[in-house]
Order: sequence, then C-alpha cells, then structure tokens
Amino acid sequence: MAVFGPESFVGKSGRVFEIRNCDPSWVDLFIPFQETIAAETTHTLMVVGRPPAVERVERMWREWLEQPVNLALAVLDDRGHMVGHAIFMPSRSDDHPWTRHVGRFAMMLVREVWGEGLGKALLMILENHAKKTGIHRIEAEVRVKNERGVRLYLNAGFKIEGTREKAAWINGQFEDEYTIAKWVE
Ligand SMILES: CC(C)(COP(=O)(O)OP(=O)(O)OC[C@H]1O[C@@H](n2cnc3c(N)ncnc32)[C@H](O)[C@@H]1OP(=O)(O)O)[C@@H](O)C(=O)NCCC(=O)NCCS
Repeated sequence: MAVFGPESFVGKSGRVFEIRNCDPSWVDLFIPFQETIAAETTHTLMVVGRPPAVERVERMWREWLEQPVNLALAVLDDRGHMVGHAIFMPSRSDDHPWTRHVGRFAMMLVREVWGEGLGKALLMILENHAKKTGIHRIEAEVRVKNERGVRLYLNAGFKIEGTREKAAWINGQFEDEYTIAKWVE
C-alpha cells in the first residue's frame, strides 16, 4: 500500500504544514486547489475552466492506495486547505519487466507557499519512496521557462537529458520542455 504520513513540515516562514497521502474521502479539497493552480501558473497541465472529474480523482486516489509504487501526496495548511500536490507512478502502467525500475513524478504548490521549502521536501519524500519501491530512475518534464522548477530539480541532482521543442501551446505561444531524470540507489 502506497501511503505516507501524516508528517508535519515547518516552512521557512514558520508556517506549519501537513504532508500525507491523499485521502479519497476529502477529494472535494482538490477542486479549489486545482482552480487556484490553474489561475496562478501555466507550468502544469491544470487549465482554467477545465476542472477534473471529481469521481475520476477520487477513484484514482482510492486505487493508488492499493498500488505499491503509485503515490498521491497532499500538502495541507493549518486551516486544512490543500496547498500542494505531488504524484509518483511507474513509467508504464503494464508492469513491464524491462522498465520496472523507472518512475515518474509531478508536483505543484499554490503560489502563496512557494519558497517555503515544500518543493524540496516533496521531492525528498518521492525519492525515498522510489528507493523503497525498487525504482532507480526518476523522470519528469519541466517547462524551460519554469525557472523555479528547473532550479529545484537541478539542485536536487536531476540532469537535463533533452528538450522537447514546442511541447506545449500556451496562450498563443509554443513552449519547450526539458526532460529531466535522476538515478537513485
Ligand atoms: C516548482 C515548485 C514546485 C517549487 O516549489 P517551492 O516550494 O518554491 O520550492 P522550494 O521552496 O523548495 O525552492 C525551490 C528553489 O527555487 C529557488 N528559487 C527561489 N526563488 C526563485 C526564483 N525567483 N527563480 C528561480 N528559482 C528560485 C530557491 O532558491 C529554491 O532552491 P534552494 O532552496 O536550493 O535555494 C513550485 O514553485 C510550484 O508548484 N510551481 C508551480 C507548478 C510547477 O511549476 N510545478 C512543477 C512542474 S514541473
């Protein structure tokens, strides 16, 4: 079962957060979180006016609890609001024997908590989870324009392996993406 926490995290400003696996029973917290992320940044796949189906998210969180590698994490603030989310999963869903050591992740935080150290903390939790579950290669994509994200990942030891040119079309402009990866023992 891929579960985590709850663990307390004290941000650089002294704010206290809770990091834990997403509980299907509070999926409603995800809706305002998704709306905020979509409005604040174009660095994820969250789009204004395109909310995810609650049933689909709830089903995913429920199913992932039973999966050894898939992990959905939430960051909650001291009001119980969801302010961060990270997901980790195998690179392929078919448990292929040649790629079983490869995992992927994505993460996002609402702007009001950027710079608290939560990005780094989430990344460390995901890396530890990878090690425990036999994953050695961790992959992700990050938009070239996403300076904060690129800095976070490079500081954490990820390497830029390539560029997916014009990988996204956002607000009338093409945007390139880096493919990044890290080997963990
Ligand atoms: C990318 C993201 C997860 C980083 O989270 P965060 O909480 O700000 O991360 P941290 O506080 O741990 O710090 C990240 C690094 O950014 C650096 N940073 C701070 N301000 C910065 C700036 N203006 N430009 C570039 N880097 C900056 C910090 O120095 C820090 O590195 P350091 O602590 O080693 O010095 C967060 O900004 C976010 O969710 N952004 C929107 C969604 C997104 O981009 N998701 C990732 C898609 S791949």
